[in-house]
Amino acid sequence: MKTLYFAAIAGVLGVSNAQVIQGNYTGPLRPQVHFSPPQFFMNDPNGCFLDANGTWHLYYQYNPTDIVIGNQHWGHATSKDLYHWENQPIAIFPPDNSSQVFTGSAVIDVNNTSGFFPDQDNGIVAIYTLNTPTKEIQAISFSRDGGFTFTAFEGNPVIDSTTTNFRDPKVIRFQDNWVMAVAFSTDLVIAIYTSPDLKNWTHASNFTHPDVGALFECPNLVELPVDGSDETKFALTISTNPGPNDGTVMKYIVGDFNGTHFTPDPTDDVVRVVDAIKDSYAGQYFYGVPDGEAVFIAWATNGDYASDLPTASEGWRSSQTLPRRNSLVNIPGQGWDLVSFPFDLSPVLGNQLADTASVVNDSLSVDYSNVESNAIYFEANITGLSSASSSLFNFTFSSKTSGESVSGSYQFADNTFVLDRNNTRGFDNKAFENPSRFNVSKPLDTDGALSISALIDRSIIEVFLNRGELSGTMLFYPTEPLSIFSISTEAIPQDAEVLVSVWGLESVWV
Ligand code: FRU
Repeated sequence: MKTLYFAAIAGVLGVSNAQVIQGNYTGPLRPQVHFSPPQFFMNDPNGCFLDANGTWHLYYQYNPTDIVIGNQHWGHATSKDLYHWENQPIAIFPPDNSSQVFTGSAVIDVNNTSGFFPDQDNGIVAIYTLNTPTKEIQAISFSRDGGFTFTAFEGNPVIDSTTTNFRDPKVIRFQDNWVMAVAFSTDLVIAIYTSPDLKNWTHASNFTHPDVGALFECPNLVELPVDGSDETKFALTISTNPGPNDGTVMKYIVGDFNGTHFTPDPTDDVVRVVDAIKDSYAGQYFYGVPDGEAVFIAWATNGDYASDLPTASEGWRSSQTLPRRNSLVNIPGQGWDLVSFPFDLSPVLGNQLADTASVVNDSLSVDYSNVESNAIYFEANITGLSSASSSLFNFTFSSKTSGESVSGSYQFADNTFVLDRNNTRGFDNKAFENPSRFNVSKPLDTDGALSISALIDRSIIEVFLNRGELSGTMLFYPTEPLSIFSISTEAIPQDAEVLVSVWGLESVWV
């Protein structure tokens, strides 16, 4: 009987400690410069940190035994540049057959505040939610080998509870304390706790806001640089629903943090969305990034259809977004705006397919079927536009064979950005199809100039206006690869300039 029982557990978990799960990254939908798991189902980024040797660690919510959510572990990958990832063995396993390891964060305990690391300054502590049948509680595990293998703290949980909706601790260092933001998800509260040693936590405050949404998950309390100044501001991000395009969405509020309380900026107490389209959720900021830089990555999908994505036919589900650098700008008349732009893309840029081509009231077409990755990046810089211009900027990626396409446009007269996946047919899902054309109206700090850039990677596109003042992530599933890129502009004043550069991207996987 006993033997049978243990065989059953092994069958459920199906993975052993030291094993790197192998992946086949060649499927036509599989992104080539984004991180996706070797096999099975991935969701939230977890425990993101940069170590002192310059290695980025990405952990992630991972079901290593099925293509839908469940049996949650922490998968792990490492990278020197945030693009070339090396899959590592699973880092954190559930402590028993009825618990799951949910979302959380990781810190480097340089000064051994926890006491776990008597002889080292590179000890890692992971702080995460244990989801059990009766409650969600916060637990910690420590790693003495730089984040590859973890041991659960014997004194777990470090924060007990009586509720099944208490999750996603994100810990930062603030002055001489550890500070945790954690969600009481259905109470619509982000609680702040403080600790001297990562083991003993004291409740410090509760934050709520009426304009966030119907569920609170995956908070980040993050200090962001303010562009063009030496200042910083705090932001509280909360993943929630519904978003402006239905489904799940990540939002943020800008304000101040005094060590115990987060207070929205009294002059601009507005809840805004992190990503303007539909496919970015549960994002997290990396711990340990020097010089006050804020580096961010998110789960690139929507809760409405994440467990139904057609990539199951290739044996995997979900990628992360591109790594992004985040900062804030204050746009006159608009208020705070989160700027989110890809982290240095040079490690993946390949051959240039167009070099500052001029596209004034004209069009440019680039056939990228010879780019092996089937992934490209473009930047368009538009200058000399009068503010009330009726100019229009269009771009399209289309398939030579199936006639499918993904397209976008920017209408200067009313600051309207559109991104459209309606003309793709590879995913039959109501929530995915409705809406499938996203309309975003948002004044930008244009001053007669605008930049538009986008990275398209087989089944995901990320678009950036004004170097990330507006950013949008959209999944799409064509039945045939898209391989023709075209840009056109209309009603551009004669003295204006539109310069377009296009690069093929080098696969990081094959
Ligand atoms: C967000 C989330 C978290 C939770 C995790 C479970 O996508 O629901 O709140 O910790 O996923 O996998």
